[in-house]
Amino acid sequence: MSVTIKSPREIELMRESCRLLSEVFSQLEKMIEPGITTKDIDVEGDKLIRSYGCIPNFLHYNGYPASICTSVNEEVVHGIPSKKRKLVEGDIISLDCGLIYHGYHSDMARTFGVGQVAPDVQKLMDVTKQSFFEGIKMARAGNYLYDISNAIDDYVTPFGYGIVRDLVGHGIGTSLHEDPQIPNFRQKKHGIRLEPGMTLAIEPMIAMGGYEVCWLDDDWTVVTEDGSPAAHYENTILITDGDPEILTLKKD
Ligand code: MF3
Ligand code: CO
Repeated sequence: MSVTIKSPREIELMRESCRLLSEVFSQLEKMIEPGITTKDIDVEGDKLIRSYGCIPNFLHYNGYPASICTSVNEEVVHGIPSKKRKLVEGDIISLDCGLIYHGYHSDMARTFGVGQVAPDVQKLMDVTKQSFFEGIKMARAGNYLYDISNAIDDYVTPFGYGIVRDLVGHGIGTSLHEDPQIPNFRQKKHGIRLEPGMTLAIEPMIAMGGYEVCWLDDDWTVVTEDGSPAAHYENTILITDGDPEILTLKKD
């Protein structure tokens, strides 16, 4: 297993990759309303990425057929955009997207409500987002990887939600997925020690019901086994000498 430490020059490229990706998300968020299709979002996202001179890194990744993953309600991740999937009021949609800027990958996900969503679903989204921030508090040089995983679990589990176990966060850099893997649930082994210059994608995926997931016949879409809604919140971050830097979070 090899975890890469980015040089100052590489960190600059990661920052720019992530900044452009967060810009893509700001634009896409404005599109989310009843009546649009998941395909509309993918087409626009792909266009935006290319307009910045970047390359969508999900497209053709292990054969994935789109530039954005669009996962609605009980779909957890890797939903495939479709002209037939029209969003309706009360849906939630997770967008997961990444791009390559001068060889450096970024990766980010958000769950958005379509119009008004039920209070219990809104709470799921809020807790999922906050769980990322609980995890990130531990993302400091000298801590171990499992400090992040355990902080997420400690925060989420009292709500009675299921933390998806079959998919995890990851290192990121000149590849979309680098070592280490970053589980969002309690770990017994401490894993690697965090060092300045590591860039990581931390991405809790949380279901309102059980944590078990299965795959649809398209071989991509991951859904909750019990059909309960799920939320996803992901940023690419940098480990520093001090506070972690959240590279895909817009500073405005
Ligand atoms: N965004 C996923 C991750 O966070 C990767 C999606 S790969 C794709 O690791 F092929 F589904 F696009
Ligand atoms: Co990721």
